[in-house]
Amino acid sequence: MRESDYQFIRNLVYERSRINLGPDKRELVAARLGKRLRAMQLASIADYCSFLRTDKAQDEVANLIDAISTNHTFFFREGHHFEYLRSTILPELAGRRRAECWPALRVWSAASSTGEEPYSLAITLAEVLPALAADWGWRIDATDISHRVLDRARAAIYTEESVVGHVPPMLVTKFFQRGFGPQAGNYRVKSSLRERVTYSHLNLIEGPFRFPEPFQFIFCRNVMIYFDRQTQEELVARLAGQLVPGGYLLVGHSESLTGIRHPLTLVAPAIYRRPPAAKA
Ligand SMILES: C[S@@+](CC[C@H](N)C(=O)[O-])C[C@H]1O[C@@H](n2cnc3c(N)ncnc32)[C@H](O)[C@@H]1O
Repeated sequence: MRESDYQFIRNLVYERSRINLGPDKRELVAARLGKRLRAMQLASIADYCSFLRTDKAQDEVANLIDAISTNHTFFFREGHHFEYLRSTILPELAGRRRAECWPALRVWSAASSTGEEPYSLAITLAEVLPALAADWGWRIDATDISHRVLDRARAAIYTEESVVGHVPPMLVTKFFQRGFGPQAGNYRVKSSLRERVTYSHLNLIEGPFRFPEPFQFIFCRNVMIYFDRQTQEELVARLAGQLVPGGYLLVGHSESLTGIRHPLTLVAPAIYRRPPAAKA
C-alpha cells in the first residue's frame, strides 16, 4: 500500500469513527482490506481509495470501518466487572429503585460487538435480579458502529468453543440451546434472554445520544482505547450524561480514565460512578 493511500484511509477512518490508526498499522490495514477488494472486484488499494473519493462511497465507508476495526470479545470478559455487578452494583440499585422511582433497570452495552458482552450482562441480571427485586423489569440496549457485528449479535449463535470455554456449565444449560443438523456444534442464546436485548447502530462519536431514559449503568469497554485523548474526554462526558445520578460506567481495564478530565468518581478498578444527586 502506498503511503499516500494509507494516509488517506487513516484520515477517513479517523474522521468517521475517531479510530486512530497508528503509523505501524499499515500492513494490518492492507491485509484487512483484501476482503473488500475481492468483494468489490478491485485490483488494488489505489483503486479502492479512488472509489472512496467518489460520491458513491457513502455506504462503503461503513464497510471500511468494519474491515479495519477489531471486534474481539468473549463471554464474561474481564470477569471482575461481572463479580462487582453481582456483589455491589445490583444490590445497591435494587435497594434504591423505589425511592428513585425507577420502573425498570436500564443498561447500555456501548460497542457491544458480536453480542457476548450484552448476553453476559443478560445472564447476570437473569440470575441475580429475581432474588433482589423480582418485580423489577430490565432491558439492555446494545449498540455498535459495525452492521456486520450487530447482525451476528442479533442471531446470537456461537461456537461451542466460545460458549463452553467461558460460560459456567450450569449457565450454559440454563441459557443456551444446543444446535442440531446444520447447527450441530453451535449454541444459541435462548429467546428469554434475546428478547431483553435491543441492538442498534450507533457511532459513539456522532451527534447527541437519543435514548428515551437514562441508564443505571453503562458498559463501554475496549473501544475507547482506539480513540485519542480529546475524543475519550468528550465521550466520557457524554456517557456520564446518559447515567442516572449515582449510576455506573464500566470501562475496559486497559482504559483507565487517569489523565483525562471527567465528572465521575473511581469506585473500583475500571468502574466509575456518577455522583449521586445532592439531598434537598
Ligand atoms: C474490541 S470490541 C469490544 C467489545 C466489548 N465491548 C468487549 O469489551 O468485549 C470494540 C467494538 O467497538 C466498535 N467500535 C469501534 N469504533 C466505534 C465507534 N466510533 N462507535 C461505536 N462502536 C465502535 C467496534 O465495531 C467493535 O465491535
